[in-house]
Amino acid sequence: MNIVILKNYDEVSSKASEIVINQLISKPNSVLGLATGSTPIGLYKRLIQANKENKISFKDVKSFNLDEYIGLDIKHPQSYHQFMMDNLFSKVDINLANTHLPQNDVENMNEHAEAYNKLLAKTKIDLQILGIGSNGHIGFNEPGTPFGNETFIVELEEKTRKDNMRFFNSLDEVPKYAITMGIKNIMRSKHILLLASGIEKSDAVYQMIHGEVTENLPASILQLHPHATVILDEKAASKLPL
Ligand code: GLP
Repeated sequence: MNIVILKNYDEVSSKASEIVINQLISKPNSVLGLATGSTPIGLYKRLIQANKENKISFKDVKSFNLDEYIGLDIKHPQSYHQFMMDNLFSKVDINLANTHLPQNDVENMNEHAEAYNKLLAKTKIDLQILGIGSNGHIGFNEPGTPFGNETFIVELEEKTRKDNMRFFNSLDEVPKYAITMGIKNIMRSKHILLLASGIEKSDAVYQMIHGEVTENLPASILQLHPHATVILDEKAASKLPL
């Protein structure tokens, strides 16, 4: 694991954007693994800017998102489909036909997981962007998820739903299930770039880097990835030994 500690969220976003920009310059038809949540928003803003300035193009980029809530209309403001449109896709020159998110209607959940998994099996993600949940989840792989899992349906932990409640009007509105790439899908990526900012991530960050590799802290698996870069701000890194 290559660990980079920077002052604040802005610096984390800038450093992450440098890495993604270099990836797209050296391989314009890169396959990107994309994440949602508040953490990558600063990165996406910088990518939009770089696209505007013609430093990078998404014309030949393919993307695969990590996860999506089950049962939320894809036009719901908090669906990850809508998040990606609002925060990246509608603002860059990406071909929407090359963007992929798991389908999420309740009736055919298992079929959707299988279909997404088949798509992922046909490709190799060059650069996978990740955030981390305060319980150490990546994508929506909650603590206890077997490391061997491929795309599957997950029941979200109360803690995760409470963390994400800030985007909804009440806890009741936060979906109880999601569809997510499994750890095995994530680990197949050539390069993994995990970003974390803020004190509420500091315990999970400590465990991810210094704890044992355990399914109880899903992000700890990244210790075993041959090319993982972790970019932290000082608060997220505050529990790490000096
Ligand atoms: C969400 C997403 C994750 C994200 C995490 C942290 O539940 N499924 O992909 O990394 O929680 O979110 P945030 O960046 O808003 O703290």
